[in-house]
Amino acid sequence: MKLTIENRKRIAAEVACKFLEDGLVLGVGTGSTVKYFIEFLGKMIRNGALRNIYAVPSSYDTHFRLVQEGVKVVSLIEFDELDLTIDGADSVLMNNNVLIKGGGGALFREKVINYAARKRIIIVDDTKINRRFPIPVEVHHFAIGYVLKSLRELGLKASLRSSKCKVGPCISDNGNILLDAEAPLELITAELEVKLNSIPGILENGIFSKEAEIVVGKADGSYEILKLG
Ligand code: A5P
Repeated sequence: MKLTIENRKRIAAEVACKFLEDGLVLGVGTGSTVKYFIEFLGKMIRNGALRNIYAVPSSYDTHFRLVQEGVKVVSLIEFDELDLTIDGADSVLMNNNVLIKGGGGALFREKVINYAARKRIIIVDDTKINRRFPIPVEVHHFAIGYVLKSLRELGLKASLRSSKCKVGPCISDNGNILLDAEAPLELITAELEVKLNSIPGILENGIFSKEAEIVVGKADGSYEILKLG
């Protein structure tokens, strides 16, 4: 029998807990897979398996969930480096050696905790491997027209993400506009990550190229660990 996608996410989240040790300062990503990880983390704290774990959240959603589970929330003011970041992904492009993230709109802070960490664990279900997904881009509203034109010139087709809870554009936790950019697969590389961030007005983009271990929860109930970078 095939496991549901939710159960595959849960397996990946549970496996990520094997990388936890007392005293770690963790970056915690955002999304439906990370939600399971935070629940497991809460259980480990309550049953005494972990006592001193500090977490830097990548969104309001994750911050609220961590508080609810009794995890100590800190920031990059107290800690300028993280031991480990645990996060989800919208796509793992194995041949391009990159992740695409930001479907949940948290890419800016996720990128910061990704780079600030000495080690990265990405938790996904197997439908995320080599999945086609547009590149999320966070843009300051002042630059929006210029950024759209610059993306067109690079061969990307970008549009504003619509909000689901109000009329108009989707605004990030940081108060910025989110775009989604369709790009030819061969363009989605570490080079494009750098190029996009050199356009004035782009605050961050959803291509993640840092070395990471990818924990994949599979339909048959098993998991595998892939390496990126
Ligand atoms: C948030 O901005 C996203 O990048 C998430 O990390 C990513 O979408 C994974 O989310 P799910 O686990 O909900 O698929």
